[in-house]
Amino acid sequence: MTTPKQQGLIARWRSRLPVTNRTPIISLLEGDTPLVPAPKIAAAAGLGQSSVYLKIEGANPTGSFKDRGMTLAISKAVEEGARGVICASTGNTAASAAAYAARAGLRCAVLLPAGGVAAGKLSQSLMHGAEVLAVRGNFDEALKLASLIAEDAGWTMVNSTNPYRLEGQKTGAFEVINALGRAPDYQFMPVGNAGNITAYWMGYQEAHRRSKSGLPKMMGWQAAGAAPIVLGRPIKNPKTIASAIRIGDPVSWKRAEQARDRSKGHIGKVSDREILSAYRLLAREEGVFCEPSSATGVAGLIAWTKRKKIRPGSKIVCILTGNGLKDPDTPKTQPYKMRTIPATMAALRRALSGTRRGR
Ligand code: F0G
Repeated sequence: MTTPKQQGLIARWRSRLPVTNRTPIISLLEGDTPLVPAPKIAAAAGLGQSSVYLKIEGANPTGSFKDRGMTLAISKAVEEGARGVICASTGNTAASAAAYAARAGLRCAVLLPAGGVAAGKLSQSLMHGAEVLAVRGNFDEALKLASLIAEDAGWTMVNSTNPYRLEGQKTGAFEVINALGRAPDYQFMPVGNAGNITAYWMGYQEAHRRSKSGLPKMMGWQAAGAAPIVLGRPIKNPKTIASAIRIGDPVSWKRAEQARDRSKGHIGKVSDREILSAYRLLAREEGVFCEPSSATGVAGLIAWTKRKKIRPGSKIVCILTGNGLKDPDTPKTQPYKMRTIPATMAALRRALSGTRRGR
């Protein structure tokens, strides 16, 4: 076999990750995702003088940032002789666990809130051969069940309660620093179970200790109907269009608050309307199709700049956590329609007779 030039993130960041020569590396060449300038988002947020960048985590092998943590969690599970892995998920963790477990030849069970997972993510878990169980309950209930069976029957949990998940995910911060030459001034991102904001903060702090790369203000955003950290109490029945972050009692709640407080950042909430507006703006003006949940950080940026000043010249990174193709149903609720025409030139001319790009 030839060795490809690309490398997965364990190979790339080996010295900063808890692996040894005995760790079998299970990789799909994840990481190294694009950091794309977003001038239209900057303009929409009234930030003409600052630079906004989008970290396209949907470019990972299974289409979300979860692959960063999963390559490490599954590699360590194999090293430790796990018989199987289990997770509860709003969809992306499950898809990623299923793919990496398939590659490792490990049994994988995923617990999903019944009716609460986008179609693409469900298809991924099924295709990769996971044992898919729809739990009549919400994510928080499914997560409790998964951790109980993990203790009981020796499954390895690959939710972000697994420390290797956060270790892998922290590499996102290393990549941002490499791309910009320093840490950004602000990082905007969605918050669900609060693992990713915790992991990025770990990564930025580690990098700063090594090389004085600076520390961003961590700006986390929850959907208004699923905003336990903002409201200061768990939500029994979280509700939002953004199904990936429909979570009422986040596991890494305290650590997300620490990231917020130590970075002098903020955790706020945005409405589903604001989320969908950012989702459309990203797709139509920047050419970037992400999941509604991923657009939540961008909605947060736009909401924030209406109330607060950001110093001109700032560098702002928004983490777009998952690929828009994972959720084929939300676009159907948006005001964009395909037209069907007869197979004639006359009909085609008529159909194209307008002069502007649709908005
Ligand atoms: N964005 C997407 C697309 C997600 O799938 C998730 C979490 C988040 C943001 C929030 O990240 O939980 O680290 O704060 N998805 C989990 C899952 C819960 O099961 O796939 P977080």
